[in-house]
Amino acid sequence: MRKPVIAGNWKMYKTIAEAVDFVSKLKPLVANATHCEVVVAPPFTALRAVAEAAKGSNIAIAAQDAHWDKEGAHTGDVSPTMLVEAGCTHVIIGHSERRQDHHETDESVNRKTKAALAAGLTPIVCVGELLAEREAGKTEQVLERQVQGGLAGLTPQDFSRIIIAYEPVWAIGTGRTATPEMAAQSHGFIRGLVRRQFGEGLAAQVRILYGGSVKPDNVGGLMAQEEIDGALVGGASLKAESFVGIVKGRRAS
Ligand code: PGA
Repeated sequence: MRKPVIAGNWKMYKTIAEAVDFVSKLKPLVANATHCEVVVAPPFTALRAVAEAAKGSNIAIAAQDAHWDKEGAHTGDVSPTMLVEAGCTHVIIGHSERRQDHHETDESVNRKTKAALAAGLTPIVCVGELLAEREAGKTEQVLERQVQGGLAGLTPQDFSRIIIAYEPVWAIGTGRTATPEMAAQSHGFIRGLVRRQFGEGLAAQVRILYGGSVKPDNVGGLMAQEEIDGALVGGASLKAESFVGIVKGRRAS
């Protein structure tokens, strides 16, 4: 049985004060949520304060990116070891906004993923096709390239610590969610790629989250799909009520 993960990606939202306030509110609301892992990804500036505020709770802290080096002359970047020091246990890697805004490639995703693992972080590795790619019938080709490139050279032991997020780019922030069936089909395809690369055991074990306009009212349908092991949530993770609504939207049994 794979334990679902509900992760909130705050992107470039929330001051330190707002972030701490949010987590203080969230703590009691998710205290009994033992059916899933709860993760929030604040902006860099708020990581430390949010980690402090979340201490003693079941809320894990993720960064939204990490460099692949431990330290160095990389203006504006933050290393995985710095994230661990700030209180992170997880890091989102290769989000489509980073691929678009910062020209991240499958190769940089791969380097970052390995560095995050080496620092002891759990990488949440994002993949997903553009609208034009879906319309051109290239979804599987894109996912294959991203999964194989992003996860190249990982040992099975490394891979066992990874979470994958399938986020069709056309569904992010658009209010246009993939149907549960459409998402499950892509998840099944990704799991098949994992099976080919790492074998049946790890394919059965890896958590694949869906991301793209997940809301309290559509999470139930998505989570009812056996292939979908949780959600990476942007917009609807910014308000405690809607995020909690998603955390409580269980997998139907
Ligand atoms: P959204 O973002 O929920 O606002 O569509 C999801 C994401 O970018 O991870």
